Amino acid sequence: MEGKKLKKLIIFYSLEGNTRFIAENISDITGGDLLELKPKEDIKSKGFMRFIWGGRQVVTGKKPELMPINKNPNDYDIIFLGTPIWASRYTPAINSFLDKTKITGKKIALFCCHAGGGNGKAFNMLKEQLKENEILGQIEFKDPLKHDKEEAILRLKKWIEEII
Ligand SMILES: Cc1cc2nc3c(=O)[nH]c(=O)nc-3n(C[C@H](O)[C@H](O)[C@H](O)COP(=O)(O)O)c2cc1C
Repeated sequence: MEGKKLKKLIIFYSLEGNTRFIAENISDITGGDLLELKPKEDIKSKGFMRFIWGGRQVVTGKKPELMPINKNPNDYDIIFLGTPIWASRYTPAINSFLDKTKITGKKIALFCCHAGGGNGKAFNMLKEQLKENEILGQIEFKDPLKHDKEEAILRLKKWIEEII
């Protein structure tokens, strides 16, 4: 019950819609606000080249400039942070965001989408970045738009009930 009174913010980046789908469902379930991170210049490559482009961005630690952000995480109690997995890590947009925004003393829940490789190093790296916060839990989805969406939403609801 107490969880219902806490203000929630769902911060995410999504290139192809999977992470956005999960983020929007978290918002529907919790009533939380959405904050989508959008790089000023995002990946333009299509097909296999996008993996090369994106993978290079990740391994070279790129921090692309983001579009202006109109929500302050410090105004919220619980933050859901979501990313696709790129080259087994979190995405450059999340890297930019965490570099610019100091988040401490919050309750944080992590979510990610991947194509079958699991969360890789991403959750561990995020936990290290966010170590001055309480991590409530983590959940991962394999390309939810390509699989059973209802099953993903049910799993999401159960997870949220468990952690909040
Ligand atoms: C540049 C790039 C690198 C990726 N690297 C991985 C990876 O290492 N492991 C994996 O399982 N999926 C990888 N994927 C697949 C995405 O993580 C997966 O399709 C995810 O659901 C996409 O989320 P989105 O639709 O929110 O962008 C990669 C995708 C891209 C574009």
